[in-house]
Amino acid sequence: MKPVLGAQGVAKIFPRSDGDLTVLAACDLLVGPQEAVAITGASGSGKSTLLNILGGLDAPTSGSVTHEGWPLDFADHAALTRWRSEVVGFVFQFHFLLPDFTAFENLLIPLRGRRRITAADRTLAMEFLERMGLADRADHLPGEMSGGEQQRVAVARAFMNRPRVVLADEPFGNLDKEIGARLGDLLFEMRRDHGTALVIVTHDSALAGRADRRLHLHGGRLAVAGGGEEGLR
Ligand SMILES: Nc1ncnc2c1ncn2[C@@H]1O[C@H](COP(=O)(O)OP(=O)(O)OP(=O)(O)O)[C@@H](O)[C@H]1O
Ligand SMILES: [Mg+2]
Repeated sequence: MKPVLGAQGVAKIFPRSDGDLTVLAACDLLVGPQEAVAITGASGSGKSTLLNILGGLDAPTSGSVTHEGWPLDFADHAALTRWRSEVVGFVFQFHFLLPDFTAFENLLIPLRGRRRITAADRTLAMEFLERMGLADRADHLPGEMSGGEQQRVAVARAFMNRPRVVLADEPFGNLDKEIGARLGDLLFEMRRDHGTALVIVTHDSALAGRADRRLHLHGGRLAVAGGGEEGLR
């Protein structure tokens, strides 16, 4: 089967008055359908930059990102937005839930931009909240939920559009370790049950260890974690 997501020679250079900053030199990656890949790397090594490029949120300076072998056209914003809404789910470190909408409504919002909300969508949103142990928080605003509860809503939201791949950027980094581990269980269960590929950026080696593969970002390149000098850092 074709890889759900690929990066070929992805480079990112930020031009600055004091000289260009090369964050990604040449990243190559293929993510198979339903595969879970963990990416580790030092702070500032470019993990978020890479994840944003993989999800079509930011354009690479050079190189390409492919979905099932087809390159994304970063110049076509409308097509890119549509692709993202159909193929990708995101979980960020901070939940980015809309503060004036309930947990239930927050799950439906990403769908609303694209089509009419159906009864099946509402049922799915409720199912996901139950799955996250949040059935009794459906009517709560984000401000009326704990950090862990908010992040569980964010995990559920990432799966609402039935994505082919979920991109998670340090999703539980600001939660305590035990709660983070429980949310890791939920994320990996959701991914298994929905047959979704997952690319997860994390400092947490226990979370990274659950992935099928671990890669390490260093010097603007990806290498197999633990597979040599790069993996030891
Ligand atoms: N828009 C930008 N302009 C200039 N430099 C940037 C820009 N965005 C990111 N950078 C720089 O690129 C580098 C990589 O940033 P990035 O956020 O991808 O790191 P990271 O690996 O996700 O780090 P962390 O683990 O702290 O989240 C950093 O040194 C950052 O300062
Ligand atoms: Mg980051």
